[in-house]
Amino acid sequence: MPAALATAPSFEELLRRKDLAWMGQNTTHLEPPPEVVAALLDSTRRHEFQFYAPALGLEELRELIVADLGLASAGHTAMITDGAVGGLHHICTALAPGLSRLITTDPGWPWPGRFVQLQGVPVTAVEVYSGQAGYKLTAAALAEVIEPRSLLYLIDPLNPLGSSYRREELEAIVGLARANEAIVVHDCTYRHFADGHTLVAELYPEATLTTYSFSKWLGLAGLRLGAIVGGPGLLGRLTQTPANPLGANIQAQRAAIAGLRVKEPWLRELRRVNRRNQQIVTEGVEHGPFGRVLVQPSQGNFLAVDIGGHGWTADQVGAAMLDRDVFIRSGTYQSPGFGDRVVKVSTSVPAAWAERFAAAWAELGDRPQ
Ligand SMILES: Cc1ncc(COP(=O)(O)O)c(C=O)c1O
Repeated sequence: MPAALATAPSFEELLRRKDLAWMGQNTTHLEPPPEVVAALLDSTRRHEFQFYAPALGLEELRELIVADLGLASAGHTAMITDGAVGGLHHICTALAPGLSRLITTDPGWPWPGRFVQLQGVPVTAVEVYSGQAGYKLTAAALAEVIEPRSLLYLIDPLNPLGSSYRREELEAIVGLARANEAIVVHDCTYRHFADGHTLVAELYPEATLTTYSFSKWLGLAGLRLGAIVGGPGLLGRLTQTPANPLGANIQAQRAAIAGLRVKEPWLRELRRVNRRNQQIVTEGVEHGPFGRVLVQPSQGNFLAVDIGGHGWTADQVGAAMLDRDVFIRSGTYQSPGFGDRVVKVSTSVPAAWAERFAAAWAELGDRPQ
């Protein structure tokens, strides 16, 4: 078993803990929009769970997602998937035969790399744990590893660091992608938390797939709903044989439609709460015995905290916080190179949890035995 998986906590066990502060998976734990709950209840009452959804998802939802991204004029459409990760798996397996390499970052999110590796495609993870590089992939670093027919898996905002890409940075990246006839998968799972965000699909519409999630901004993680958005050529290669031709969770789709309809007021409040909690967590770290928040302001619903040089490993910090009923994530899940010295703290949660985090962090005094 890979080391990263060996250190994963038992989620079954965590789910049994009634009073746990869930700050380890970037999921949202606020009171959901009532319209979303009503849509779920209504769908349940109508026993809609007895039906399959259309293979590519409900038409209204597909259109709302493309409109949310502003990609209709680019001629892009959406296919609904079982979470963003279901879409990423489908992209990786369907496109693997034509790929020379997948390029991603360390730290990053490990799964797409693992998916293509199963198909025999090599993976290059460019190290981005550097303030000088802005804790993100630079065009200069990409230039050293890109080759014809690469797939660039670009997470933006970047989980777990919280950095995001400016338009001119994406333009430079796209210049290299175009010169190498590379495909870009722009993972926009955390886009809704960012102060501003540019889509690679606007710059490179012919060879970009945008992946979309309802787990984070709308808080539907357990319902498993996401999408892939792309132009007719590239998306067409994916829609012919969907990974789940019987359609994604129909009730989740009703909830997502309801959420997209009330998106503006919901996001205003969500972003306010997220920023406030980021402040509480940052102050907790600053006043605590060790640690430094790496990227400020984080463009995601999480903060990366460097804990290096104090005798603690990230796994030990995670375990000590769990003892205090706060679940945060050790960096070992997301970074082979730097995971031991970083933990991630999710912030789209009740303020009381952020305060509990700060109180627990203050107690992390002496080096563990
Ligand atoms: C970068 C990134 N992509 C995709 C996902 C998966 O999203 P979903 O819950 O929609 O499958 C996550 C979840 O943590 C993530 O961090």
